[in-house]
Amino acid sequence: MCGIVGYTGKNSALAPVLEGLRRLEYRGYDSAGIALTVAVGQQLWVEKRAGKLGNLEETLEDGTPDSHSGIGHTRWATHGGPTDTNAHPHLDNEGKLALIHNGIIENYVELRAELERRGHIFKSETDTESVVHLLSDARKAHHGDLAAAMREVCAELRGSFTLLAIHSDQPDHIVGARRNSPLVVGVGNGENFLASDVAAFIAHTKRALELGQDEVVDISPTEIIITDLQGNVLPHHEYEISWDASAAERGGYAHFMLKEIYEQPKAILDTLIGRLHGLGAEISQNIDFGKIDKVVIIACGTAFHAGLVGKYAIEQWGGISVEVEYASEYRYREPRVDGHTLVIPISQSGETMDTLMAMRYAKENGAQVFSVCNTNGSTIPRESDAVLYTHAGPEIAVASTKAFATQLIAMYLIGLHLGQIRGTITSEFIAEMAEHLEALPAKVEQVLETVEPLRELTRQFKDSSSMLFLGRHVGYPTALEGALKLKELAYMHAEGFPGGELKHGPIALIDQGTPVVAMIPAEGSLLAEKMASNVQEVKARGAVVIAISDWHVPAASHVVRIPSTHPFLQPVLSVVPLQVIAYEMAIARGNDVDQPRNLAKSVTVE
Ligand code: F6R
Repeated sequence: MCGIVGYTGKNSALAPVLEGLRRLEYRGYDSAGIALTVAVGQQLWVEKRAGKLGNLEETLEDGTPDSHSGIGHTRWATHGGPTDTNAHPHLDNEGKLALIHNGIIENYVELRAELERRGHIFKSETDTESVVHLLSDARKAHHGDLAAAMREVCAELRGSFTLLAIHSDQPDHIVGARRNSPLVVGVGNGENFLASDVAAFIAHTKRALELGQDEVVDISPTEIIITDLQGNVLPHHEYEISWDASAAERGGYAHFMLKEIYEQPKAILDTLIGRLHGLGAEISQNIDFGKIDKVVIIACGTAFHAGLVGKYAIEQWGGISVEVEYASEYRYREPRVDGHTLVIPISQSGETMDTLMAMRYAKENGAQVFSVCNTNGSTIPRESDAVLYTHAGPEIAVASTKAFATQLIAMYLIGLHLGQIRGTITSEFIAEMAEHLEALPAKVEQVLETVEPLRELTRQFKDSSSMLFLGRHVGYPTALEGALKLKELAYMHAEGFPGGELKHGPIALIDQGTPVVAMIPAEGSLLAEKMASNVQEVKARGAVVIAISDWHVPAASHVVRIPSTHPFLQPVLSVVPLQVIAYEMAIARGNDVDQPRNLAKSVTVE
């Protein structure tokens, strides 16, 4: 959702701002704009356009001013449609102050009414424009001090925001602020950056500063000043970004999604490294595991599906009840939570507002919070008691793939850890599972080497109106994930069902030629027999069944063979063909693979 970039320094600002916006494109957006300072006291230079960044770049061909400081924005429309006028930056009535914003200003209606009464003229339908007018008045009241004005304005705002502002009277300064929405500082040499995501400036510097809740930052080429809303100067918490620019580039693959599918063996390995013999030191200091009598996993979308698989492992190995809940639903039913509850938010981005708000509810009610996250320094881990970072590296494609695989690994590690400290599993079992886990990267590699025929097979179903996914036990959440991926990428009706549930209604959907993908457990197991019967049931009614399994499943029309593993770990392997089906179907149907319509990578609104 909305990408934000600011640059001030020794070089021309246009290139790093545009490059930053390109690197943030993956977040999903529907308009883009930039503002550059021209000279002290002169009006700012602003261009903004609905649609993709290319539309904006076309307008720049007629020339841009030589400027060393500027801000850029990609907008995902919330208040007001995706038009040129609603695109950011928004300007004050003198055209000297520009503002970009990510998030939602909840009290914008009151603010707008008051500002219009004071004579401000609004041009857009956005919530953001109220803030620029408010900032303009506050700046005058603070004798031109933009940072002081920003502090005053933030105190008046309700909602979530990352804000960046520039004013032509201080052309080499950019002032930023954040509440419930990400903002990081990139520390350069004679140049500094602000962005909603480190990907925006990773090509220029790997030094970054975290900004906390309700903090205001004022950057110039050589100085960074962070304050709280009262104006107290705060210390810098600098960290080194552990991946480089090439990790956020396609590296020869046709799409980021394909690259990320192929990165899964390495991502799994990176998440496992150093953790197979216990998570102790990493997490134990802030969590009192002895006190826990219930685990609640909260997450959204794909991360929710990882949580559903996690329920099997944590409940069975850890000998403890596990609930898995959609984060967006959790706090509204006012669930019973206390210090005996371990809440596990799972989030790739660490910024998903639904998950963050659910987690805050749990914390306020005394729960211990142990998050699983892929993004260092993001809000969810910062507000957790402990965190298990998945080391998937940057995930750029909107549809999650390698993040899911590593979230599954995190679930297994937590299940084993709880089992170990609660004494519900033996050390022999842990050693056996460690071997199974260690073998996964090579097995995923094996699956990837054999998916080419599946791509061809997928294209046969390009005109189908629907595709169904079946599974039992951990195969059921896998089926849900397969259906979600297909919906996101192919814009096709897709649903996942527990195999046993079919006869209670969904089987009526089966028609001649309906494609059905079935997750089949290892041969000889009770669940494999049950699933084989479910395959027979749908085939008898005309379905074309693609089975994903480690054996030949005679009842299926096609079988995608995956290596054998422990039954609980099968989703790590069986999800790979599902990702390939969704990817191939998107291409066959002419869809944008990396940025599917209507979707955003990091969903920072509730
Ligand atoms: C699906 C997808 C989304 C995310 C969900 C949670 O491919 O990417 O369903 O899984 O929005 O996002 P995070 O994990 O960042 O909290």
